[in-house]
Amino acid sequence: MTSDEHARLMRVNQANWDARTPVHLASRFYGLDEDLDPERWFAAFEWEDLGELTGRDVLHLQCHLGTETVAFARRGARAVGLDFSEASVAAAREIAAEAGVDVEYVPANVYDAVDALGGRQFDVVYTGKGALCYLPDLARWADVIGQLLRPGGLLYVVEFHPLLNSLGPKPAPGEGPELLLRHDYLGGGGPVRRDATRTYTDGPAVEGATESFEWMHGIGEVLGALTEAGLSVRRLRESDELPWPRWPQMRHTPSGWWRLPEPRIPLLYGLLATR
Ligand SMILES: C[S@@+](CC[C@H](N)C(=O)[O-])C[C@H]1O[C@@H](n2cnc3c(N)ncnc32)[C@H](O)[C@@H]1O
Repeated sequence: MTSDEHARLMRVNQANWDARTPVHLASRFYGLDEDLDPERWFAAFEWEDLGELTGRDVLHLQCHLGTETVAFARRGARAVGLDFSEASVAAAREIAAEAGVDVEYVPANVYDAVDALGGRQFDVVYTGKGALCYLPDLARWADVIGQLLRPGGLLYVVEFHPLLNSLGPKPAPGEGPELLLRHDYLGGGGPVRRDATRTYTDGPAVEGATESFEWMHGIGEVLGALTEAGLSVRRLRESDELPWPRWPQMRHTPSGWWRLPEPRIPLLYGLLATR
């Protein structure tokens, strides 16, 4: 697939995320109608790996409504959020103002981030929880990350484990809640097209731009792209917990997150790399 074709599919995704934004704002999922509590989107190990953020320049790529970006600002970082959905960025600005925190939001495609941020560099680049699957080319992404980080700067990716993405419910209805391996774990198979009026939150149906494209990326592909771009991978964690119940059979854990009944499998990973 050519880079022009990638650009076309990303424009389709951009329209889809603009259309999803009012649905997410009207949903209970992000907790916008109650206490925002942005920290609930983070596992304890993320804060351990990220370390002290006070006074640090933190860039949150694909920040969507900025619910996590607000957490960085509350921890004392100079936080910048970037997302290509203008509707998301507009909503994120309002949410940060409401929360009384100072966050700069920049509307741009990740692949254009270096120019959109005027060549600025950061101590920390954070991304994930449903971000990499919208990027067609991880080698280009890793190259952009390398340019956004100061020497010694830290990249933190917290992503849904490709094993989670390859699970699907047993197709026959009424036959129990078993999950089966139904989708590719490894990338390289081209984009997966979706056309859905339902997004991952509650709330009304998505109207208009319902089509979107995703790309699967195995963990080896992510690590390979980063090391090829000159970053050093320092740590890779795998976790069996998710911040919300992706499947009905998931159970609450003492941390407040959710896990599947046994056997224990990884559902999320945290990857720390430095420039
Ligand atoms: C699932 S959300 C981000 C996850 C965030 N952790 C959250 O839960 O709110 C995915 C975001 O990626 C953004 N996005 C997708 N592809 C992008 C791209 N190429 N450049 C910039 N933003 C992109 C979408 O607009 C959307 O806001």
